[in-house]
Amino acid sequence: MSNKTINRHEKVETNVGLFFTLAILAISIGGLVEITPLFFQNATTIPVTNLKPYTALQMEGRDIYIREGCHVCHSQMIRPFRAETERYGHYSVAGEGVWEHPFLWGSKRTGPDLARVGGRYSDAWHFAHLTDPRSVVPESNMPSFKWLSETELTGELTAKKLTTFNFLTSSHQRKDAQGKRIPLYSAEDIAGAKAAVKGKTEMQALIAYLQSLGHALK
Ligand code: HEC
Repeated sequence: MSNKTINRHEKVETNVGLFFTLAILAISIGGLVEITPLFFQNATTIPVTNLKPYTALQMEGRDIYIREGCHVCHSQMIRPFRAETERYGHYSVAGEGVWEHPFLWGSKRTGPDLARVGGRYSDAWHFAHLTDPRSVVPESNMPSFKWLSETELTGELTAKKLTTFNFLTSSHQRKDAQGKRIPLYSAEDIAGAKAAVKGKTEMQALIAYLQSLGHALK
């Protein structure tokens, strides 16, 4: 190596400001190269074929799942490893999560992954488990959520939630045969949202949400 190159290198290494600026520049370019294509790839932006929007009741259940912090102990992200796919089923793909706002993939697993829990147990099992986990899984250390049966939904905000989801998913919606976007929720869905949930308990909504998980990709 010539002396001249050594000098140029030394200039960068001994000048904190210059070194910092160049490092930020290198990281930014690397980040852009990795992240930008994801916004344009069909595999990450188009919903998988059988993905269904949450019904009004499932949507309310999802909010209860968030409120109660279920995602703090449960992930919804099956990784592509044999130990995981044998236990939980097909690994999670991006096309299943395009309508998730906020996403609940998580990384903390005090309890099992729930990405494909829908249909694995009966509604009655979930009711017993959420009311008193030890009644069905004696060694469980999951807390009880028995109060969820005591509160009924009013449905005051349900229509607003569906409208908000139409807005949030406007770039990731289904398309009809002509390639025209179909909003996630129709005007009738929104008009009927309140009636669909009013009088149902929070427990019923949460169970409806759990049963909806993971059917799009079997
Ligand atoms: C403090 C951690 C913790 C929290 C919070 C928690 N869980 Fe659990 N959960 C567990 C553990 C541990 C298990 C495994 C033992 C069992 O089945 O009860 C479990 C199991 C489950 C299972 C059975 C999964 C399977 O495949 O067998 C479901 C369903 C479930 N939890 C739903 C929920 C929901 C819904 C909430 C929020 C209302 C919640 N959990 C909150 C720890 C937690």
